[in-house]
Amino acid sequence: MGQLPLMPEQASTVAGQVDLLYYALIALSLLFALPIAGLTVYFAVKYRRGARADRSGQITATLPYELTWTIVPTLMALGVFVWAATLYFRIERPPADALEIYVLGRQWMWEFQHPEGQRELAELHVPLGRPVKLLMTSEDVIHSFYVPAFRVKQDVLPGRYTAIWFQPSKVGEYHLFCAEYCGTDHAVMGGVVYVMEPAAYQAWLGGGAAGGPQAPQTMAAAGEKLFSGLGCSGCHRMDGSGAGPSLVGVFGSPVQLQGGQSAIADEGYVRNSILLPQSQVVAGYQPVMPSFKGQVSESQILQLIAYIKSLGAGQAAPGASQTAQPPP
Ligand code: CUA
Repeated sequence: MGQLPLMPEQASTVAGQVDLLYYALIALSLLFALPIAGLTVYFAVKYRRGARADRSGQITATLPYELTWTIVPTLMALGVFVWAATLYFRIERPPADALEIYVLGRQWMWEFQHPEGQRELAELHVPLGRPVKLLMTSEDVIHSFYVPAFRVKQDVLPGRYTAIWFQPSKVGEYHLFCAEYCGTDHAVMGGVVYVMEPAAYQAWLGGGAAGGPQAPQTMAAAGEKLFSGLGCSGCHRMDGSGAGPSLVGVFGSPVQLQGGQSAIADEGYVRNSILLPQSQVVAGYQPVMPSFKGQVSESQILQLIAYIKSLGAGQAAPGASQTAQPPP
C-alpha cells in the first residue's frame, strides 16, 4: 500500500490492513458521493425553472430500480461490515504467546512495567517481530493509549483492565499519545515507543537502561514479596490448608463463588478480590479476608497479579474481563 504523506508511518503488522480498509471506505464513499453531487448540479441546471428541457416520459415501472438500489448497497455495506469486523476481532484478541507488559495511566504520565522487572516512564521499549500485549489500567481518570504508527488505540480505565496488542514491524521510535482528554496536561501526556532488535531488547532488559548496578527484580518476585509482606501468604497457603483458598493454578480458571455464581479468575477478578474481597467469596470459605484498599497501589496490584499468574494458570481465558470499549 502506498503511503500518503498525510498518514502516519506503518510500523505494525495490522497497520497496512487498517489503512487498506480506510482507503476502501474513502473510495466507496467517493463512488457514491461524486456521482450524486455531479448529478445534483447537472439536473439543477438542466431542469431549472424556465429551461426548455423535455419533462415528458415519466418512469412508472420502478421495481427493478428499487431492487437494484436496495440490494447492491446492502451487499456493499455487509461486505464492509464483515471486512471491518474480521479486522476488529484480530486487533482485539491478543495471541496467546504475546509478550505481556503492564501499563498504568495517571495524570499525566504513562508508566510501564515489564515482567522482567524493568520500569519506565513515558518510554516503552519493545522487541521487533513479537506480538506485545499491554494490560492497562488507570490510577485516576480515563486515559487512552494511542500509537498512530501501530494503528492501535484503547481506553484506559480506572478500576478495570483493558488490553491491546500489536506486533511492531519496523525498528524505530514512534509517538505515543493520550487520546482521551484527562485534565490540564492531557496534551503532554505522551511518550515514545522504541522498537528494538530482539537482541538489543534483551540487552536493555538486562538492566543497563535504568543505570542501576543490580539486575531488576521481576514483577512476580516483587509480587511474591508483597504477598508475604502483606500477610496474604498466611491464609492463602500453597497446599490449601489456610483460611483462604490456595492460589496455585487458579489464574484463568473458573472459580465457584458463594451463592452459586462462578467467575473467571482473570486480572479484574484478582484486583477485585484484593480490594473488595467480600464481593466474591469463594464457595466453602468464610468471608474473613480484609480489604486491602489504600494499602496497595495499582502498580503493586499488578505485581501481585504477576505473582499469582506465576503460580500457574488454569484453562486460559484471555481477556475475559478486558472486554474492550470502542475508542471515543
Ligand atoms: Cu491522559 Cu489524556
